[in-house]
Amino acid sequence: MDKKELVQKAKEARSLSYSPYSHFAVGAAVLTKDGQVFLGANIENSAYPLCMCAERNALYNAYMHGYKKNDLVALALSADTDGPCSPCGACRQVISELFPKDGVIIMTSVKGAYQETNIEELLPYAFSEDDLK
Ligand code: THU
Repeated sequence: MDKKELVQKAKEARSLSYSPYSHFAVGAAVLTKDGQVFLGANIENSAYPLCMCAERNALYNAYMHGYKKNDLVALALSADTDGPCSPCGACRQVISELFPKDGVIIMTSVKGAYQETNIEELLPYAFSEDDLK
């Protein structure tokens, strides 16, 4: 699977979004080294802080199928934004824990915006397990 196909999967995952409060559907797709793709979409709740983002759901989906940090190679996300949809702060922290430093993060919009980055750019000086020692 190439990056373009992964982005398409992230866009398709938006159809799984449960977002009756924000009406802002986000889709994400995680690609593994062995070519598997795991989808995520944002799932909201009337108790707003319980809303869960697409990126975290996609990563947790991969983990629930037995995949770990170093099995993952790319994470794409997409929403109906003008520019590339950027992961929120909470997702950046979770990505820094569960997704490899050299993994590609592809931020896109359904309108065609496209930007590649990585977690070190998105979350420099991240808190990590090393800080707990
Ligand atoms: N959301 C995501 O799923 N991912 C992001 O990167 C940004 C925000 C969701 C959370 C909430 O359901 C809605 O978008 C509006 O913030």
